[in-house]
Amino acid sequence: METVKIKDRSFAVSIPEETIKERVAALGAQISADLAGEQPLFLAVLNGSFVFAADLLRSVSVPCEISFVRMASYQGTSSTGKVRQLIGLNESIEGRTVVIVEDIIDSGLTMKELLLLLENYHPKRVLISALLVKPGNLKVDLDIPYCCFEIPNDFIVGYGLDYDGEGRNLRHIYTVED
Ligand code: IMP
Ligand code: MG
Repeated sequence: METVKIKDRSFAVSIPEETIKERVAALGAQISADLAGEQPLFLAVLNGSFVFAADLLRSVSVPCEISFVRMASYQGTSSTGKVRQLIGLNESIEGRTVVIVEDIIDSGLTMKELLLLLENYHPKRVLISALLVKPGNLKVDLDIPYCCFEIPNDFIVGYGLDYDGEGRNLRHIYTVED
């Protein structure tokens, strides 16, 4: 299998581009069937989800919108510790069906935090879509109705995901070799 070197690590193809495309298209079709008659707002979580979001959205056939958000962390007071903020949500989601588009759910803590932040805006419901889930690392209870691939706890790059800022442009998904 093809390998790439990024900085100090080497990575081998674990999910080829064609397999990703097929699975993402199938997920888009499933979301479209489930959300027929609705006009969902997709919320793509930057940076990692930009490639997945581009492919997923083109497989969605119901009228829809997309917005790009980011979880920004800043240092709070010593008592509050690290605080995270949702930026980029410029439209009202009140009463709307929201579909989060995330690259990867690892511990699930980021997603849990995002769900809590979104609740403040009173959406009708929030559904999670994720390219990848590492079920072995999940530390919180999450309902993930739309997942493309469940993977082992290894570090991966490509198709939007990075290793220290690099590798997002790779067409396949690669797993670190030890
Ligand atoms: P969580 O809060 O532990 O679920 O972390 C999710 C975030 O960690 C993702 O949005 C990614 O930015 C990053 N992440 C987790 N696993 C990987 C990986 O294997 N490759 C690249 N980024 C990862
Ligand atoms: Mg992410």
